[in-house]
Amino acid sequence: MTHDLKQQIADQLDRSRARTRLLTDAVDENDLTAQHSPLMSPLVWDLAHVGNQEELWLVRDVGGREPVREDVDHLYDAFQNARADRPALPLLGPSEARGYLGDVRTKVLDVLDRTDVGEESERRLVRSGFAFGMIVQHEQQHDETMLATHQLRAGEPVLAAPAPPQPTGGGAHSYPAEVLIPGGPFTMGTSVEPWALDNERPAHQVDVPDFWIDTFPVTNGEYMTFIAAGGYDDPRWWSAEGWKHRQEAALFAPLFWKRDGERWLRRRFGHVEPVPADEPVLHVCFYEAEAYAAWAGKRLPTEAEWEKAARHDPVEDRSRRFPWGDDDPTAAHANLGQTHLRPAPVGAYPLGASAFGVQQLIGDVWEWTSTTFHGYPGFSVFPYPEYSQVFFGDDYRVLRGGSFGTDVSACRSTFRNWDFPIRRQIFTGIRCARTATIDEVR
Ligand code: AVJ
Ligand code: FE
Repeated sequence: MTHDLKQQIADQLDRSRARTRLLTDAVDENDLTAQHSPLMSPLVWDLAHVGNQEELWLVRDVGGREPVREDVDHLYDAFQNARADRPALPLLGPSEARGYLGDVRTKVLDVLDRTDVGEESERRLVRSGFAFGMIVQHEQQHDETMLATHQLRAGEPVLAAPAPPQPTGGGAHSYPAEVLIPGGPFTMGTSVEPWALDNERPAHQVDVPDFWIDTFPVTNGEYMTFIAAGGYDDPRWWSAEGWKHRQEAALFAPLFWKRDGERWLRRRFGHVEPVPADEPVLHVCFYEAEAYAAWAGKRLPTEAEWEKAARHDPVEDRSRRFPWGDDDPTAAHANLGQTHLRPAPVGAYPLGASAFGVQQLIGDVWEWTSTTFHGYPGFSVFPYPEYSQVFFGDDYRVLRGGSFGTDVSACRSTFRNWDFPIRRQIFTGIRCARTATIDEVR
């Protein structure tokens, strides 16, 4: 039993490292040390930071071993160094950083070998392999961040991936545009998922009134209609804060879009191409998402609405791990894990539908919710406050569902992401909801 879990952990550690290598071997040394945007770290910082976190938690804390490179701790502490300042630090160079990651990993595999990771382990930190799972998720999260850095990087394409699947049958148009989610309580969050992070805990009941939610994320085609209708020029659709930002930042379209006569082009990992109408819109900030929803006569879902639409099974009256059930995602369920370097067209994942028939909740694009980031009732820090607690407050909005760049290990229907409402360099999109009227729920 424990042996199987140890093998699974070793496989997951391998998978995350293979992805880190893919992202960092794709560019030369200059590219690794350059800062491609003040919003992002140089790739070589993410690289060594991933190794440093692994050392702190698994070599020193779990393993009780001597430090590998205590001298570099301060360089890779995200709180001591703002992203914009990281290029100026005396960072490990690319080959030093690669060597460091390798040294740490060798020790970690030995620690894993000697650690009791069973469900009954006395140390909560390692019970069911939690600390190892946390580090796998940490590396995969930084891999998604590095993928966003690749998207910001100028120059020729260096990453390649097959096209995502296409819709089959009648496609998106053969489904109702929105689904009614009947009011009532459901279980939000989890107390049982072994590798769930502290902000997903504990499971608790939330009573959600009747609401409608769109079957699919908002597409580029729909978003183009919003732009063509003057959506960016009409303060009616924007919150006061959103309108202020729209003016200050001179927003006119999603990030990476460019007007070309009658059509829109986008830059996607170095390729310039016409914006495909049937893919979920990508690279919009919270304020743009809010404005689009208002223009469409709708609103963004709350975080609880999103999770209920994604997880609640009204027949069994329980919450699922994923929209389709309790099984881990496969390539047929969702567009995850950088398998494709873009969202899939709407209608491409009918097998990923929730009990209510809502599609593409997992993967493709992170979906903005209207909810600010706070701990659930009964929240307790585990194992460190800097993962999520220090970010609780009204400055951040919650994002749900994961993107094409999110790994399976860091994606589930309870997983919570957050960012500032002005951010759009991450892989963000929109799903609309609306409150049901009394006539509609009768
Ligand atoms: C959960 C994506 C907001 O990247 O800031 C990485 C994840 N935390 N290292 C982030 C994280 C510490 C975090 N997000
Ligand atoms: Fe980190």
